Amino acid sequence: MATQLVTTAAELREASARLLAQKAGRSQGLVPTMGALHEGHARLARTAVEQNDVVVASIFVNPLQFGDAVDLDRYPRTLDADLALLEEQGVDLVFAPSVEEVYPGGEPLVRVTAGSLGEKWEGASRPGHFDGALTVVAKLLHYGIPRSGLPATGAFVSGGGGGLPAYRAYFGQKDAQQLALVRRMVADLNFPVEIVAVPTVRSEDGLALSSRNRFLSAEEREAALVLSQALRLLAERATAHQPLDLESARAMVESQSLVGLDYFDVVDPLTLEPLAENCRKVPFRGEGLALIAAKVGPVRLIDNVPLSS
Ligand code: PAF
Repeated sequence: MATQLVTTAAELREASARLLAQKAGRSQGLVPTMGALHEGHARLARTAVEQNDVVVASIFVNPLQFGDAVDLDRYPRTLDADLALLEEQGVDLVFAPSVEEVYPGGEPLVRVTAGSLGEKWEGASRPGHFDGALTVVAKLLHYGIPRSGLPATGAFVSGGGGGLPAYRAYFGQKDAQQLALVRRMVADLNFPVEIVAVPTVRSEDGLALSSRNRFLSAEEREAALVLSQALRLLAERATAHQPLDLESARAMVESQSLVGLDYFDVVDPLTLEPLAENCRKVPFRGEGLALIAAKVGPVRLIDNVPLSS
């Protein structure tokens, strides 16, 4: 079936309810995006299509999560190519609302705040970013709620229980802090949705795919490889039960002159608090997440790998 494009919440409600009824669907998946899609998004969409009867992808460049207007203007808009990519993965519906549709009264007065988890790492250099991202994710999660099978009271449960469709939303592990925050929001505020994390997609040389990679020159792209190399080194040390020796991995990144390292640390995967002891001279034990962010030429890149020993 061809992918259908809708631009208003009312159209989305109507179209997704009709599709669920037509397919006698038991589950609906939502893939929130800002467009400029690449293979990483394709993997999110494919995973959603494999796991759900009806899949909605949203494309919305959310002004609330951009600190500066230049960055917002510069964000690539590639709707036709995005639609083609989503259609190839088998997505049923694309919801591409205008700013006025999402924020009809202008900037919302009431917002979701990310708290202390949103102030560290990426949040430290992008104040307000995660408040803006969580606010729109909250709205998108509401837009995407499967409507078919709702009892007259409007009550809703996730998981397909009681004859109601299951509801899942898909986020990339590459944005580890966003993922951790979305999980916290859903748990803290009782959103009726299961959050599914999808592994990072990398190009053959290891660079994590990102919509921002297109702004790297060939030389900068080559230099940026040190990020994934340093992360891989830590993952190998963790698997081999060796000390992580984070300092030597940091030095490796800092030796690359085109790369301006912002942070590189090993954290608890849920709280994102540093696991200081595990990074020093003792063999790594347990679970962790290595996070890195750096400016390469004009582009800020982030990446991470799970550590397990
Ligand atoms: O990860 C993104 O693309 C965005 O932050 C999201 C989740 C679509 C919210 O605007």
